[in-house]
Amino acid sequence: MTASTHTTVTVLGLGAMGRALAAAFVAAGHPTTIWNRSPGKDAELVAQGAVSVATVEEAVRASALVVACLFDHESVHEVLDPVGGLLADRALVNLTSTEPAGARELAEWAAAQDIPYLDGGIMAVPAMIGQPGSALLYSGSSTVFEAHREALETLGTAEYFGADAGRASLIDFALLSGMYVMFAGYYHGAAMVRDIGMSAEEFGNRSASLLAAMLPSLPAAGAQIDTGDYSEVFQPLTFTKAALDAIVSASRDAGVDLDIIGPVRNLVDRQIAAGHGAQSSERAFESLNPRPRTAI
Ligand SMILES: NC(=O)c1ccc[n+]([C@@H]2O[C@H](COP(=O)([O-])OP(=O)(O)OC[C@H]3O[C@@H](n4cnc5c(N)ncnc54)[C@H](OP(=O)(O)O)[C@@H]3O)[C@@H](O)[C@H]2O)c1
Repeated sequence: MTASTHTTVTVLGLGAMGRALAAAFVAAGHPTTIWNRSPGKDAELVAQGAVSVATVEEAVRASALVVACLFDHESVHEVLDPVGGLLADRALVNLTSTEPAGARELAEWAAAQDIPYLDGGIMAVPAMIGQPGSALLYSGSSTVFEAHREALETLGTAEYFGADAGRASLIDFALLSGMYVMFAGYYHGAAMVRDIGMSAEEFGNRSASLLAAMLPSLPAAGAQIDTGDYSEVFQPLTFTKAALDAIVSASRDAGVDLDIIGPVRNLVDRQIAAGHGAQSSERAFESLNPRPRTAI
């Protein structure tokens, strides 16, 4: 029998995501050790070939690559602080959702103990892990990323965004902000049509078609935002304002709260008030981040 050439991996945290990560490592042939605070979440993984251990210390000692997928920043410290001394000759990858400042703080905590640290953001739900469409964003130690890239690729496409450990998290949350606001826009529309008897499901079908048709225009909008020159006009701010005024009025008439659509109109109004009404509607971006832009 030949020994496995696959990296040994430990997964700390067997919530829905941690279990999916561990299952992907096992399926790819990595000798996988698992640990969870509460018992009872390891049976399926053990049946698949993972080794379940009772303590974090045993779990960390078992592998070259230690992946944490816990609840939040505090729980990462709670679990890892007592074993910091054991991590120095291993690679630590934190896939717990952590704010950029939290990721940077963990990177400093790790650096103080010579722990090679990579932070990651998972752009997938558990069912997608290891499947096409799963993407993970990383930043922090390039040494860890390069040394363990193959293992990390078993979870989904692995992309590295630089030495600042907070960058992956920032991009992760920026992407999620777009997702949450898109859903909120759908909720708003569904609330508008509720009283005429259109189900949220039917409205969801119609919204999905319209949004899918609109989404490919995002990079072109971004290209204009990147230049900061809004003189090439696809749709002027005044046109967008007329549409938003009508939507706000129709929402009011339908008894729908303006918490979602009101601030969107506000972005446009601020640019028009500053004298930019004839410019392209992408200029609404400038209401959000009016500081001088840094080079991209
Ligand atoms: N699920 C998703 O779709 C998804 C997508 C992207 C990113 N993520 C991120 O992945 C991470 C895990 O998500 P999940 O879906 O697996 O969450 P989950 O099902 O709620 O599991 C949370 C895990 O954290 C552990 N935990 C919580 N507090 C702890 C503490 N103080 N000490 C030790 N362990 C603790 C839990 O252990 P117990 O079993 O003992 O409670 C459990 O293993 C989160 O940061 C989440 O934001 C999840």
